[in-house]
Amino acid sequence: MNLKEQLITGRKKLGVWGLGYIGFSSIAYFARAGITCLGTDPLQHRVDDVNHGKVTIPNFQYWLGFDVKQLSDNKIMQATADWKELISNEVAVHLVTIPTEQGGKPYHEYLKDVIIKLSKFKDIKTEHPPLVIVESTLTPTVMDNIVIPLFKEKGITVGKDILLGVAPRRDWFTESDKTLKTLPRVVGGTTPETTDLMADVLGIICDTIIKAPDHKHAAIVKSIENAYRQLDITFANQLSLAYPDMDMTYVLKMVGTKWNIGTYHPSFGTGGYCIPLAPQYVLEGAKHPEKLTLIKESLKTDFSQPNTVVESLIKRGIKKVAILGIAYTGDLKVHVLSPGIPIAKMLKEKGIDVKVNDPYYSDQEIRDLTGCEPIKFPSGLADRDSIVIVSPHMQYKYTNNQEIKKQLGNVKFILDNMGIWKSMEKPEGAIYHEAGDAHWLE
Ligand SMILES: NC(=O)c1ccc[n+]([C@@H]2O[C@H](COP(=O)([O-])OP(=O)(O)OC[C@H]3O[C@@H](n4cnc5c(N)ncnc54)[C@H](O)[C@@H]3O)[C@@H](O)[C@H]2O)c1
Repeated sequence: MNLKEQLITGRKKLGVWGLGYIGFSSIAYFARAGITCLGTDPLQHRVDDVNHGKVTIPNFQYWLGFDVKQLSDNKIMQATADWKELISNEVAVHLVTIPTEQGGKPYHEYLKDVIIKLSKFKDIKTEHPPLVIVESTLTPTVMDNIVIPLFKEKGITVGKDILLGVAPRRDWFTESDKTLKTLPRVVGGTTPETTDLMADVLGIICDTIIKAPDHKHAAIVKSIENAYRQLDITFANQLSLAYPDMDMTYVLKMVGTKWNIGTYHPSFGTGGYCIPLAPQYVLEGAKHPEKLTLIKESLKTDFSQPNTVVESLIKRGIKKVAILGIAYTGDLKVHVLSPGIPIAKMLKEKGIDVKVNDPYYSDQEIRDLTGCEPIKFPSGLADRDSIVIVSPHMQYKYTNNQEIKKQLGNVKFILDNMGIWKSMEKPEGAIYHEAGDAHWLE
């Protein structure tokens, strides 16, 4: 019986290391496909969520589109805080879904921790070498420079004692059609046999598997696709800076009607784990990083964009500002490298009275992340003279226009990252700009 059949028949289990966005979605998808799964996470509440079929990540249940409670009630989806339970002959496949970033830089300590724990397989007898699939985003060289040598140091030969590969994720958790099933998945192992096995296993939940020549090629695909996005988005911002008198947002909408060009929107800058980090990953892994001049310039512009926004706000003479949203995008609770946080902090440093709202964060989280006081939406806008909308959350978009307007009596200026209030009725005399329109940064 091959590995896939052993999983499908319940003879073997699938283990998941790290039960956040990526790990929770993996465990839920495999369990729904009838595979018995066992996850682990040092955070007890993440373990409890899996064991009780509780989706606590905001809006995640809509993306998943199925009831995970049934899966945990029937014990096909389970988790433990004791990682040693995963070091077992029964757990034949291991997905590694831990964070690989900290403070805006690649960070490998969680990964090393999991590798050291997986090395305990050398102490037990297994029918087949366990298959370890790293789903976390990796710099192109981390497998060869860190993971494989660490396994070796712990007495494990990759390709023999453990089969190892990478299969980066592309999901977009706010759109229910961009899932583990529908999005093509690039997979690459350190040996061709490992790649075949990975394709077999991940093919249980994914419709389209693309086999890479090896793990290095698979890892770099993820970084390069996101580096392309960062370049494209930053080019939109540079165009808007270069043509301040034109509505570049509208120009780019028209440009995007050409068959081979995407539609890009100028903004306060990129955010999240993937897009701003990807160019750094591509640079870090390159043999000739000095050739990647476009990426270097693009990073410079992208990371200085929040500062550019702050300077323009100061020039406009704002005194009391409300920042709406600290998440880097709409309806996700992810603030990693979100431009909203440096914008709030820089404005406060410059002596502006800054209040912050984000419906996905507690008051304490807002204080800790921005150093500013939280406000309610929309009632907290009443004494504000300006509003900066960072995240296009549904609450900002779908609250009754008149209810919002009632609170805007003192507002003189509104700057809107994604244009969600563009068609909203605003108070007379208030100046409104969408990022990228003419004079938005003046
Ligand atoms: N969230 C996304 O949209 C997305 C998309 C594509 C790729 N990724 C990548 O996937 C990876 C995971 O991202 P995420 O969003 O799921 O992160 P997350 O922070 O939501 O979850 C990671 C989990 O791993 C746990 N963890 C940390 N150390 C651990 C250890 N030693 N053993 C077991 N668990 C451990 C944490 O407690 C946490 O619950 C990252 O590399 C990220 O870049 C994320």
